[in-house]
Amino acid sequence: MAIKTVGAVAALLMGATGLAACGDSADGSEGGGDDGKIVMGFAQVGAESGWRTANTESIKESAEEAGIELKFSDAQGKQENQITAIRSYIQQKVDIIAFSPVVETGWDAVLQEAKAAGIPVILTDRAVDSEDTSLYETFLGSDFVKEGQDAGQWLVDNAAEADVDGDGDVNVVQLEGTTGAAPAIDRGEGFAEAIAADPSIEVTASQTGDFTRDGGKQVMESFLNSEEGIDVVFAHNDDMGLGAIEAIEAAGLEPGKDIKIITVDAVHDGMQALADGKINFIVECNPLLGPQLMDLAQQVLDGEDIPERVVTEETTFTQEQAIEALPDRKY
Ligand code: AHR
Repeated sequence: MAIKTVGAVAALLMGATGLAACGDSADGSEGGGDDGKIVMGFAQVGAESGWRTANTESIKESAEEAGIELKFSDAQGKQENQITAIRSYIQQKVDIIAFSPVVETGWDAVLQEAKAAGIPVILTDRAVDSEDTSLYETFLGSDFVKEGQDAGQWLVDNAAEADVDGDGDVNVVQLEGTTGAAPAIDRGEGFAEAIAADPSIEVTASQTGDFTRDGGKQVMESFLNSEEGIDVVFAHNDDMGLGAIEAIEAAGLEPGKDIKIITVDAVHDGMQALADGKINFIVECNPLLGPQLMDLAQQVLDGEDIPERVVTEETTFTQEQAIEALPDRKY
């Protein structure tokens, strides 16, 4: 066990430092690549979902296009790995650090270290729950509360149809994202707020599936065994919704008909399931944050004023809209 942990941390550090070779300040000089390029250290959450894969590709491609040298690390869903990676970027004197925090809390110490080293930090995708907003330059990402509200509003607007067993109650089971992560907290909050408008809608069970397909499948299997009269699944992301579809089909039921499904993300596999009638509604969460992140990094390093919050523009999709949008989808 101990050997495995040490190995994982070493692998992470190699990931964070190994890529550093060309932009590293091995000679002790202050930040910057050998050729004057901006060097960005990016600490990614992991590879838990289709959304995350698209996000990682966007960051890597945009860095290359912007001529920014990227040191990239994958924290495999663990906060301690992200903190290790950020400390390694500080040691390497990168010009700027960006990261998508696995969970909201517990970042103040490492962010203070970055600040003391004079390295600006940009939050992307997920926020931190820190009172000291001077610890980061800006937060670029979605409005997760609104995503939850949009999901809940669709259910309120379609409550009659969603009462699949016609008993007058709409029983919802919720597949939550990673416990403590901003999108899990905020989407849950937004959804609860919106469905409060209709007392016939109730969340009867809620559990984390950790934003993964496998997690969604396992939790849904257990809900199907323990819960009576499930009408609706609200999954905090497409991957968990896709896992729930597998569990529902294995139980001999028809997803989208016998149990309605609402998800968030609108990645390709989710949109395909929506177009196929297995999901009923998807709220988009755009993973293509790379170009905006690189622009913001350049502006910060040029000393320009940037907004404290940059909200990603997003939409929602019904089944008909998914059929239309699918051919042009970029992720
Ligand atoms: O933080 C964004 C969320 O993280 C996405 O909705 C989910 O798919 C991902 O894993």
